[in-house]
Amino acid sequence: MKKISIIGAGNTGATTAHWLAEREIADVVLLDVVEGMPQGKGLDLLEAMPIIGRDTKVKGTNDFADTKDSDIVIITAGIARKPGMSRDDLLKTNAEIVGNAATESLKYSPNAIFIVLTNPLDTMAYLVMKKTGLPRERVIGQAGILDSARMRAFVAMETGVSVENIQCYVLGGHGDEMVPLTRHSNIAGIPLRDYLPADKLEAIVNRTRKGGGEIVNLLKTGSAFYAPAMACAQMADAILKDKKLIVPCAAYMKGEYGLNDMYFGVPVMLGAGGLEKIIEYKFDEAEKAMFEKSAASVKETHEALKSLVAL
Ligand code: NAI
Ligand code: 2OP
Repeated sequence: MKKISIIGAGNTGATTAHWLAEREIADVVLLDVVEGMPQGKGLDLLEAMPIIGRDTKVKGTNDFADTKDSDIVIITAGIARKPGMSRDDLLKTNAEIVGNAATESLKYSPNAIFIVLTNPLDTMAYLVMKKTGLPRERVIGQAGILDSARMRAFVAMETGVSVENIQCYVLGGHGDEMVPLTRHSNIAGIPLRDYLPADKLEAIVNRTRKGGGEIVNLLKTGSAFYAPAMACAQMADAILKDKKLIVPCAAYMKGEYGLNDMYFGVPVMLGAGGLEKIIEYKFDEAEKAMFEKSAASVKETHEALKSLVAL
């Protein structure tokens, strides 16, 4: 069985472990700084396996040595913004946590592929690549699968059509400037723009952009975790099974879409090599403008990181 280590055993980390274990995608190590908590969650999840007939092994730990020889490391560790804390404070704290998680994990799993979830997502993925010195193929950020799934769910709610018939593509940075591509999205091959009236489609686009905030406002004490965790599990599954799955992920840009030295949400092919290819869509002028606005916002956060942390 392949091995996946998840750094951060909070809501997203533990739920990712749940999806992975349930589907027997790989054995799972769940690591956190809090003592006892990852061990408790790991044991509880392991004890569920006999009920569903899965032989997945799950182990909780505080020790990076237990992550040894992981095929994939998923980084979800971090803190949420607290009252009185600026975005830069949060950036600095999460950069320390994520940077340390990445370098410690790499020591024990020199061949692992890294999936990053911690926010601010695009910038944390950039940090992991810079801190580990790994090639871009082995450091991939999760955002686009989640944002696209939200849009698919909203389209299904509006139309009553099965989610299986609905394909949506949300690219760009994981923030309010993300780029839902209504021209490329479709229901059973029919472009969304032809299927839905403009006002309904605009409402769906706006709700998608604010999808993360909608859940935060409802939960009040945290952010989304079921869908983000499923997105991480899908990425890990595609890599371990060498599926050549094309999904939107945050990838390091080397000239694609005219962008350089930054992470950004674009369609990528996931396979055994990690990020095996970046797919370039042809944009019209309106799409190009949205993409550039989103890129400017991500670049700003990258610059803030560079001013706070030595890379
Ligand atoms: P959470 O607060 O439930 O869990 C975070 C865990 O990290 C906690 O258990 C904490 O003890 C642990 N942690 C803190 N410092 C650590 C360290 N040095 N080493 C190991 N573990 C450490 O938060 P949740 O909901 O799991 O979210 C985690 C991160 O993922 C947040 O930054 C959140 O904003 C982000 N996120 C990103 C999404 C995306 O689409 N990219 C979607 C959902 C969440
Ligand atoms: C989300 O989109 C918080 O980034 C997280 O739900």
